[in-house]
Amino acid sequence: MNIAFLASHRGSNMQSIIDACKSGLLAARPVVVISNNADSGALARAQAEGIPAHHLSSKSIADEDELDKCIADTLLQYETELVILAGYMKRIGVSTLAAFPARIINIHPCLLPKYGGQGMYGMRVHEAVIASGDKESGVTIHVVTGEYDKGAILAQRKVPVEEGDSAESLAKRVLAVEHTLYVETIANIVSGNIELPVAGS
Ligand code: GRF
Repeated sequence: MNIAFLASHRGSNMQSIIDACKSGLLAARPVVVISNNADSGALARAQAEGIPAHHLSSKSIADEDELDKCIADTLLQYETELVILAGYMKRIGVSTLAAFPARIINIHPCLLPKYGGQGMYGMRVHEAVIASGDKESGVTIHVVTGEYDKGAILAQRKVPVEEGDSAESLAKRVLAVEHTLYVETIANIVSGNIELPVAGS
């Protein structure tokens, strides 16, 4: 399966998936990495791995619809079959959603539907979990729709919140689980053990 990444920052989830492809754990081929951030770790990692890397953002294409179309065209140009969001901070546009109906997935660092939606990303999620007093958090992988963190849930794994945890210590524990759960879930999609929903359902 040809997989593509959209990533804005560090790209550690992307790297764990690339590593799984390289080791043969995952029967998938990373074909392109797109980032809205020219200085992202994700683009640097793509270059280091010899994967085509594209910086596409409002800085290079000011019109929102044109940018969306360019992202969709770029993904199509590399014959992408599954789009993987890995810390991508932008909303996916209608052209990209239409080009990959129910074929875009995202990872969120808690148990959705809690602590999701616009503005809930990165450390803000972990801070909200700690402030709530919840005894567990986790990881969610879901299909991407036009709304933040709203599509069908494909996989979830719980992670305990420990006594004295800070947002940082919780984030570290959650990230380790993200790296394994994302690879496992993509492997299940590739093998057909997880069926992606029909678009619009
Ligand atoms: C992860 O915590 C992921 O759940 C969230 O953004 C973070 C990305 O980290 N969507 P990285 O760029 O993969 O290291």
